Amino acid sequence: MANHIIKFEHVSKSYQNKTVVDDISLTIDQGEFITILGTSGSGKTTTLKMLNRLIEPTKGSILFDGKDIAKLDAVALRRQIGYVVQQIGLFPHLTVADNIATVPKLLGWDKERIRQRTSELLSLVKLPEETYAKRYPSKLSGGQQQRIGVARALAADPNVMLFDEPFGAIDAITRADLQEELLTIHHRLNDKTFIFITHDFYEAFRLGTRVLIMDEGKIVQFAKPKEIIQNPASPFVNKLIETAKNQEDIWRFVHD
Ligand SMILES: Nc1ncnc2c1ncn2[C@@H]1O[C@H](COP(=O)(O)OP(=O)(O)O)[C@@H](O)[C@H]1O
Ligand SMILES: [Mg+2]
Repeated sequence: MANHIIKFEHVSKSYQNKTVVDDISLTIDQGEFITILGTSGSGKTTTLKMLNRLIEPTKGSILFDGKDIAKLDAVALRRQIGYVVQQIGLFPHLTVADNIATVPKLLGWDKERIRQRTSELLSLVKLPEETYAKRYPSKLSGGQQQRIGVARALAADPNVMLFDEPFGAIDAITRADLQEELLTIHHRLNDKTFIFITHDFYEAFRLGTRVLIMDEGKIVQFAKPKEIIQNPASPFVNKLIETAKNQEDIWRFVHD
């Protein structure tokens, strides 16, 4: 039976009298690659940040591996959850290797274990150790920096990885490469849960084993990509699909 690694039970978040996440309930199984798709301001980031307790819900509860996260130590929880954001945030004064080693060092791993782990992760994200371990972030391209961000988040082998529009600021060609590599990484790591926010329809449907569509703080649909396309749950979802199709139509138009 699938292990329910994450469960939201009637979770809401309000600021003053404005509700930005509105009564969300959902279950995610270990090993899934969930994408969260929605327009700007729909509550995606708030939802993700409640999961690693950077934001506390106003109502409801969130279970991580069966435990209510409100009762766990927030710092300990965050160490079990990797987090990658668009504004990468590598430490500029640290080499690539030292950036990746941040959490393992905090956890008191010995030098040899850290060296092995760093080497393993650099090869996973396709940046050879010999060339990149001693470089500083300023000497890397945006795409390379984001790979290091992914390696750093994976360092202590978390079960769950959160991605908040990690490729949002990256050019289209590099972005397509990174998407394919992230799929490979998810596959190779076997049984890690990835939750990935995007406002890009193609990215959501290419990467997600299930896609969670949000609008105005609510879940509009949460299903497999094919199911959503065959059976859109609302006019909003229909419009998303139509807009994506129209973008494809541009190509037909250009070739004629
Ligand atoms: N600290 C805050 N105080 C008040 N409103 C906020 C705060 N943080 C986010 N919001 C509002 O909550 C809504 C959802 O934000 P967010 O989760 O960041 O959306 P998304 O990531 O989908 O773009 C937005 O309308 C945003 O302005
Ligand atoms: Mg956001």
